[in-house]
Amino acid sequence: MRLLTAAVTTMALTFGATVATAAPVEIKFSHVVAENTPKGQMANKFAELVAERLPGQVEVKVFPSSQLFGDNKVLEAMLLGDVQMAAPSLSKFQKYTKSLQLFDLPFLFRDMAAVERFQSSAEGQEMLKALESKGLVGLGYLHNGMKQLSASTPLRVPADANGKKFRIMTSDVLHAQFEAVDAVPLKKPFSEVFTLLQTKAIDGQENTWSNIYSKKFFEVQPYITESNHGVLDYMVVTSAEFWSDLDADLRSEVKKALDEAIAYGNSIAAEKASSDKQAIIDSKRSEVVEITDAEREQWVAAMKPVWNQFADEIGADLIKAAEAANQ
Ligand code: SIN
Repeated sequence: MRLLTAAVTTMALTFGATVATAAPVEIKFSHVVAENTPKGQMANKFAELVAERLPGQVEVKVFPSSQLFGDNKVLEAMLLGDVQMAAPSLSKFQKYTKSLQLFDLPFLFRDMAAVERFQSSAEGQEMLKALESKGLVGLGYLHNGMKQLSASTPLRVPADANGKKFRIMTSDVLHAQFEAVDAVPLKKPFSEVFTLLQTKAIDGQENTWSNIYSKKFFEVQPYITESNHGVLDYMVVTSAEFWSDLDADLRSEVKKALDEAIAYGNSIAAEKASSDKQAIIDSKRSEVVEITDAEREQWVAAMKPVWNQFADEIGADLIKAAEAANQ
């Protein structure tokens, strides 16, 4: 009994000393959107779950709205160890891998259910490893939603976009997509979009209902065409160095919390898209332009040839697998 007491006391002292001296592992989670979005809510949920389950061991600090890094800098910062997690849009990885350009192909996915089916497939899961050779680990996909086109004038058919300047994310596929309708694409950080629209330095942009609403683009864009022409989704990433240095038990708990947070973010994404669209309509600041099937076909005919330009870089088989997810 005395031996047991001594052992327990020693363990308690050792454990106590460890807890008292070791600082918690810090995970800075940097993102560019508002908190009231699927990504903002997912990141906050992740921080909450980790605080509940790993107090004193791991601490997640979330930096929304480009407070810490814009998406164009965050991956470099991650490789330098200045930030541990982020969830850039899949359009922002082209410097690191060409395969994720798949998600930018216009009119590839019919809806978010097809995106989900593809991401859950063997091919989609394999793409989470696309950044490994660059020292980054893909931890999971997160949904935002389908993109719409906002502009200073109504866009019904591709000819309406001729000569207009559109802000795009840093993606050559998106560049080609706007060139295909004789528009002028400009790669700019998300944090600059509102001002560019407000000052009329650009005529339009493409984004999800959630981003158009939460960043108030609808207040400076009188028309939003419900085009659903592409998808804006994310990959939650960390650096291989940070991830492998993490104690195995902690890593497994952190991953569990992250998976739950991602499931939560995905579960609210569709509802946010429809409530944010409704809030925009109710604001009467911007008119939602609904196009006919025939008008939509014109956009498809103009933009879909972009697929051929990128088929070699992305892989024709991967494009086929993604298309199959529409069935
Ligand atoms: C984001 O949703 O993370 C930003 C998207 C954009 O840059 O338009």
